[in-house]
Amino acid sequence: MSVQSAIRRKTAPDIRARKQAEPIVMLTSYHAHTAALVDRHCDVILVGDSLGSVMHGFETTVPVTLDMMILQGASVMRGSQQALVVVDMPFGSYEASREQAFNSAVRIMKETQCGAVKLEGGVRMAETIAFLSGRGIPVMGHVGLTPQSINTLGSFRAQGRSEMDWGPIEDDAKAVADAGAFSVVVEAVAEPLARKITETIAIPTIGIGASAACDGQVLVLEDMLGLSPRTPKFVRRYGNLGPAIEAAIEGYAADVRSRAFPGPEHVYEMKKS
Ligand code: KIV
Repeated sequence: MSVQSAIRRKTAPDIRARKQAEPIVMLTSYHAHTAALVDRHCDVILVGDSLGSVMHGFETTVPVTLDMMILQGASVMRGSQQALVVVDMPFGSYEASREQAFNSAVRIMKETQCGAVKLEGGVRMAETIAFLSGRGIPVMGHVGLTPQSINTLGSFRAQGRSEMDWGPIEDDAKAVADAGAFSVVVEAVAEPLARKITETIAIPTIGIGASAACDGQVLVLEDMLGLSPRTPKFVRRYGNLGPAIEAAIEGYAADVRSRAFPGPEHVYEMKKS
């Protein structure tokens, strides 16, 4: 009997084929249980290095390590069945050389069994993207605002705000596409630039704070659920779970303090949520 799952997971070529077709729905997830929920509705699950701030309370993504990405990537793979799982390559795991990038990406793919990796940078990373793509590693690019470069950028400001600044961002998107990436995240760029890039390059663009002109959208799950302490201005909230969670914790604490906590007969009766 085959040990393969009957459900077919989406692949990088499936996502590549969605250029100018049905919009690509992508969300982040870092855990098995949220991955199971996201998996029912999304084409792609991104195990983003945003987990550094969302899960670990870091100010930036710079401290995130390869081991952290692999641990959470494997959890997301266990929790999901049909979405393509893309794992972010963290800062410092790929920039030094094509070989360093290959070794890090191979670890990610072997240890998580995800379907693709994502890395930040355009023209400067094109050679690396071609090296990985040519060796069996599907790569999602990431241009515009690249948060791992915060220490050289100085702030998380939108990119290409004036038309004069568009050139390098367009060059980055084109370089990533020409190098063989199967899609590219375009972060925090103005709508006319996102539209121009989307119309120009051959691979799907996935926008975050880059308007509806892209071929798909991605958000950080906790941001759109109202669970993050700070969210970028462009994020539309689809829930406000922070207060709901706090109210539940408050209710629990009150029950414990007033000794109204349910007895053992309830505790041992497993309920399906
Ligand atoms: O790390 C992340 O979650 C990301 C998205 C914001 C695109 O890279």
